Amino acid sequence: EKAGFDHFMLKEIHEQPKAYRDTIGSRIDGSGERVVLGEVKLTPQQIWDIHNIHIVACGTAYHAGLVGKSVIEQLARIPVETDVASEYRYRAPIITPNTLVIVVSQSGETADTLAALREAKRCGARVIAITNVVGSSVSREADDVIVTWAGPEIAVASTKAYTSQLIAFYLLGLHLAQTLGTQDATYIRETIEALQKLPEQVEQILLHAEDIKQYAEQIAEHDDLFFIGRGSDYAVAQEGSLKLKEISYIHSEAYAAGELKHGTLALIEEGIPVIALATQEHLLEKTVSNIKEVKARGAQVFAIALEGNHEIAKSVDLVFEIPRTVALLAPALVVIPLQLLAYYASLARGNDVDKPRNLAKSVTVE
Ligand code: F6R
Repeated sequence: EKAGFDHFMLKEIHEQPKAYRDTIGSRIDGSGERVVLGEVKLTPQQIWDIHNIHIVACGTAYHAGLVGKSVIEQLARIPVETDVASEYRYRAPIITPNTLVIVVSQSGETADTLAALREAKRCGARVIAITNVVGSSVSREADDVIVTWAGPEIAVASTKAYTSQLIAFYLLGLHLAQTLGTQDATYIRETIEALQKLPEQVEQILLHAEDIKQYAEQIAEHDDLFFIGRGSDYAVAQEGSLKLKEISYIHSEAYAAGELKHGTLALIEEGIPVIALATQEHLLEKTVSNIKEVKARGAQVFAIALEGNHEIAKSVDLVFEIPRTVALLAPALVVIPLQLLAYYASLARGNDVDKPRNLAKSVTVE
């Protein structure tokens, strides 16, 4: 059942090229110029009437929602807030009939996410669910459902569900942009082309899993480390940090690179590993200056950057290159080495990778 892999998690990491292909599926028209989200019944007028969007989810799905916020804001220019469901429900969120609420849930059964969905509906909002389980509670109660075709996810640590959620956000963002006219046809076509290249690029990254394994064996000796990034790299850093904590039990924190000097820099000492995500090249100069701040205090910096980025390569101790894509889509690639890092660190520590202590796959209690 593990198809020759040692763990479900590793199998599911390797299933991502297929999960991307299946989630993109027939949601792009034959010309390759338009996204066709047939399952979303929102009319053009309803899309025009959206004043704001709330994305609500828990854990890894929440982290997909953080990327979703930047994707939708950039593509469709609609203001988006992303919340964890257990907070959203109790903070009397300002929901109007012009609010679109997007709930994200792999299982479609998470108690807090389901409660947030119900609260949104009670306030008159329209709700889109992004879920991996057809027929789940969330999918039955939402107005529209975008199914992520990742297939069953068995490992407690979510991998292919997260990346399929990112693909769903790209498709939804493009769908909204097409309707609103916020991006021109060339931009949409180029983004679609780049989207269609992702599965093959994930395959290329997976060929270099051994490099990540070696690095993971080094960090398995540490008790604390940091992830830093800017823009969507910061959102992915939070997911990388959660994945590592969850299965390797190594403490880590994800920081917006520019925030370090407002307090956390005090924790940087000789030899501490810092993992810097640097795919957002328009922010490169700033990220490099943050890398210099931690290096000056003795940090060992491992960067993940787009292929051929010499500026990063010369500023850090070790660099892992991922294939080039557009900045918007980089989260769907940069997270792959982070999943492998968590996996191999957990393995090096002799943990039960697929069933980490204290955790359950589906959280149906509040
Ligand atoms: C972490 C993980 C959890 C889930 C969270 C929400 O790897 O899997 O953080 O993402 O419990 O679950 P779903 O998406 O089923 O609502």
